[in-house]
Amino acid sequence: MTDTLTIRRPDDWHVHLRDGAMLSDVVNHTARQFARAIVMPNLKPPVTTVAAGRAYRDRIMAAVDPSLDFTPLMTAYLTDTIAPSELREGKNQGVFTAAKLYPANATTNSAHGVSDIKHIHGVLDAMEDVGMPLLLHGEVTHKDVDIFDREAIFIDEVMVGLVREHPGLKIVFEHITTKEAADFVAEAGDNVAATITPHHLRYNRNAIFEGGIRPHYYCLPIAKREKHRLALRKAATSGSHKFFLGTDTAPHAVGAKESACGCAGVFNAPYALESYALTFQEEGALDKLEKFASINGPKFYGLPLNEGTITLSKKDQKVPERLTLSETDIIPFHAGETLSWSVS
Ligand code: DOR
Ligand code: ZN
Repeated sequence: MTDTLTIRRPDDWHVHLRDGAMLSDVVNHTARQFARAIVMPNLKPPVTTVAAGRAYRDRIMAAVDPSLDFTPLMTAYLTDTIAPSELREGKNQGVFTAAKLYPANATTNSAHGVSDIKHIHGVLDAMEDVGMPLLLHGEVTHKDVDIFDREAIFIDEVMVGLVREHPGLKIVFEHITTKEAADFVAEAGDNVAATITPHHLRYNRNAIFEGGIRPHYYCLPIAKREKHRLALRKAATSGSHKFFLGTDTAPHAVGAKESACGCAGVFNAPYALESYALTFQEEGALDKLEKFASINGPKFYGLPLNEGTITLSKKDQKVPERLTLSETDIIPFHAGETLSWSVS
């Protein structure tokens, strides 16, 4: 068994860094492990303009430990009324790397999201034109659709038509949770890829209800049946260029999770690489981790690969039960567990 694993420096293609005190508390967890991260725009208010994207990037950089080499890659939040020129300008000015589509009311701070994709065809044409990837929260939100079916139905109702109507648009199906999504992406053209989180690789939906309601396992899209988790593990470790690392790290104060209406999100940034390494090891695929973590993402986005390396060692580390932040506590993913990998 290998005792160390050295890979090219990885990137995280899906993070929530929040704002204010929470931003300062969480950003360095991501910056310690990853050279770049795609930063989600679902702030209050959301990042819908170039000026807001630039200002948010400045706040992130002000919060990053100056000894760390970290670049946040900003995203625009698509609304029914955002102008195509905002995306073109964002790209031209080097502010927006991608744009995020939240179906309205699908998840945290998505009330201003897109109510119907037909409202944004002009925006999608502009993105296709400038080569800006569309990042999709792929769930329908109809009240009559079961929460566990939302992603699979999104493929039929939205994805298939979207890919047909915008054949040149780069699309990332974010944080996929189903076999249907993994199969769809594997079979689509090279303009379609997916991110996979560490947590959806490690537990199925039973974890949310084990002996009672477990709010720290609740995220969106919600974890699915075991057969889906196994399909995700197969996709992530397959070596296919279509799947890459995106943690969807989504911190919420402990009280906002342990509540009558608990927020969705798993804070996995502090031990993200160790968690992925464990999964890849269990699948006998440690040799594929570098592609997933450090190569497939930049190649899809058309960005250079990172210079430098990071080394993981086979060394136990205990994950704390909770982390104390400046204004609140937060429960990390793998809380209380001993992980068998450590980032050197
Ligand atoms: O679990 C989630 N948390 N899923 C999302 O889509 C949003 C995120 C958040 O911002 O908290
Ligand atoms: Zn997210």
